[in-house]
Amino acid sequence: MENFVHHIPTKLYFGKGTISHLEESLRPLGQKVLLTYGGGSIKKSGLYDEVIAILQKGGFEVFECAGIEPNPRVESIAKGAELCKKEKVEVILSVGGGSTLDCSKAIAVGAYYVGNDYWQMVLESNEQKKALPIVAVMTMAATGSELDSCGVISNMTLHKKIGRNFTFPTVSICDPCYTFTLPAKQSAAGGADMMSHIMEGYFSRTMDSDLSEAIEEGILKSVIHHLPIVLQDPKNYEARANLFWNSSIACSGMPEYGKLKTGWPCHAMEHELSAFYDITHGVGLAILTPRWLRFILKKDPSITPRLVKFAKNVWGLENQDDTELAKAGIQALFDFFVSVGIPMNLKDLGIDETHFEEMAESCTRPSFSGFVDLSKEDIVHIFKMCL
Ligand code: NZQ
Ligand code: ZN
Repeated sequence: MENFVHHIPTKLYFGKGTISHLEESLRPLGQKVLLTYGGGSIKKSGLYDEVIAILQKGGFEVFECAGIEPNPRVESIAKGAELCKKEKVEVILSVGGGSTLDCSKAIAVGAYYVGNDYWQMVLESNEQKKALPIVAVMTMAATGSELDSCGVISNMTLHKKIGRNFTFPTVSICDPCYTFTLPAKQSAAGGADMMSHIMEGYFSRTMDSDLSEAIEEGILKSVIHHLPIVLQDPKNYEARANLFWNSSIACSGMPEYGKLKTGWPCHAMEHELSAFYDITHGVGLAILTPRWLRFILKKDPSITPRLVKFAKNVWGLENQDDTELAKAGIQALFDFFVSVGIPMNLKDLGIDETHFEEMAESCTRPSFSGFVDLSKEDIVHIFKMCL
């Protein structure tokens, strides 16, 4: 096992009715609140009214930063940070999915940033900076942003989407009931995202970190079981709750403890797709991951035992021949994504090979590796496999 650090300072309230902890969570952090949210789903679901009622009853002074985009933009950080500076905001209340919370984390750092070049601020951020405290009410099970310090920010002018460590939420409230209204496409994309967070680490060269391996396989099996249920029955609490907890843990770092770090290559490649084409994160990951695995199996067959374990323990497959079994595991993954309605070719999203060279150039770096290092040519090849 490799050495690791465990540090997650966020207090998490999980389950039905946990919004009852909102007022007591905000109270010690400040009285001037910046409420951040996305394009309006919280208004449709009634959550906005519920939150406003709590804030009014508690006598908080509320400012709003609305319209945060999926794949949040640097312009939204600027808007929120400038508001924080002007109004001397003391605490940020993020209500929404991973995009709203990611943007809120950057705003929290931006509130103390001297100057207004917020893209430069994003590039420089590394969790050491002073930041406003954040309380997060999550409405989507996907990113795990509720339990990490990461934020992924896009600059569509430069075609860049990058993840940085900003700050952990002080408190996260995860009520699975708030995910009942998720459209099927977002539920499926969220499931693919959490599976990818696991698979990026699962396919490392360390196989002896038993607990981590068990967590990884457990989360994958749980998503495979529960995602089809919520697609059939969106208000199924047990399935929604299981997916939510899976998502929180999947990106918390814990499933990778004791394992050799990988460079999360599918995420790096997906961020290029989103930066150029503004696609849904989980959809891009679902398209990339089976192709990436097929590519590695060909390039470095020493991944075979890992894929055999994946096929047996996650998908319950058997075969006398290890290579066949490895391939069958990858195919099962592909078929699962098809079965939950994810478009599995880039062509389906209107993407052709025009920018593949540029995208591959942008995400090829020394730390970018997974089970094997990938050259720029390898990445272009993987993108082409996705067409
Ligand atoms: O904007 P609104 O109107 O709220 O609608 C959102 C959005 O259109 C909607 N939605 C969210 N909750 C809903 C809902 N609609 C109905 N009912 C609900 N309960 O869903 C759409 C997608 O929301 P978004 O927040 O963008 O989704 P997600 O949580 O998947 O976040 C994706 C972003 O997180 C980044 C991704 O790259 C992407 O930018 N990531 C963040 C990570 C992190 N912080 O650790 C790690 C991930 O790997 C990922 O990169
Ligand atoms: Zn992700």
